[in-house]
Amino acid sequence: MKRGGAGLAAALVLWCAIPAAAQSVQERLTACLACHGENGQSNMPLTPSLGAQPVFFLSIQMFMFREKIRVVPLMNQMMQGISNNDLNALAAAISKLPAPQPPAGAPDAARMDAARTLAEQNRCNICHGGNYAGGENVPRIAGQREDYLAKTLREYKSNTRRGYDAAMADVLHSVSDEQLGDLAYFLSRLR
Ligand code: HEC
Ligand code: HEC
Repeated sequence: MKRGGAGLAAALVLWCAIPAAAQSVQERLTACLACHGENGQSNMPLTPSLGAQPVFFLSIQMFMFREKIRVVPLMNQMMQGISNNDLNALAAAISKLPAPQPPAGAPDAARMDAARTLAEQNRCNICHGGNYAGGENVPRIAGQREDYLAKTLREYKSNTRRGYDAAMADVLHSVSDEQLGDLAYFLSRLR
């Protein structure tokens, strides 16, 4: 937490000191990773890990932030005025970071098994892949932070997170809030 806080302050100072147009991709990347984690793994609450996300998924989400289709004021500001070239270069660099690792410690086996069955019943594995590593416009969700997974799943279900298509809102229509918590528990602990 403490390290994350200092990193955030440094990122914001870096961000504000340099006019957006003059920032190189490398300078932007340093600011991004102060929050999202240098090695692809986020240590900041409610902030997603980005390591090994498919490059196309990253580009689409960054584009949706820039165009304010996905509304998160902080990220909308981060993407303001960025060129398509820089956006794609950032996505390419970020997608090469290592995949995030699940938290240490043995997971609750019964809860893992029940949630795995639930995920398969809802066909999560059909789109996100058998190992939940994603591909193309579909994100990696294995090893993502549990708090972020729970938050973002609730936002799709309530239609406050707008996706590139309606796939997630449709899928979650019949999944209860408690089940969303179980899915977040399971996915965050997958390798
Ligand atoms: C001050 C912290 C902070 C900084 C700096 C920051 N982000 Fe974010 N970013 C966030 C948070 C928090 C979210 C989650 C938003 C939400 O709740 O939906 C996010 C979401 C994202 C997502 C969506 C990921 C997903 O799995 O849905 C991408 C992609 C992203 N950021 C890329 C970037 C890039 C590229 C930069 C640098 C130009 C950057 N971020 C800078 C905090 C930050
Ligand atoms: C029909 C294909 C499809 C199915 C089935 C599906 N997903 Fe998705 N999922 C997607 C797509 C596409 C996105 C990206 C949508 C966007 O642009 O926001 C996504 C996004 C997500 C995200 C956001 C990740 C991030 O980093 O922002 C989570 C979490 C997620 N899905 C979990 C699930 C779970 C859990 C299930 C099963 C209950 C599921 N998905 C079923 C296609 C699917």
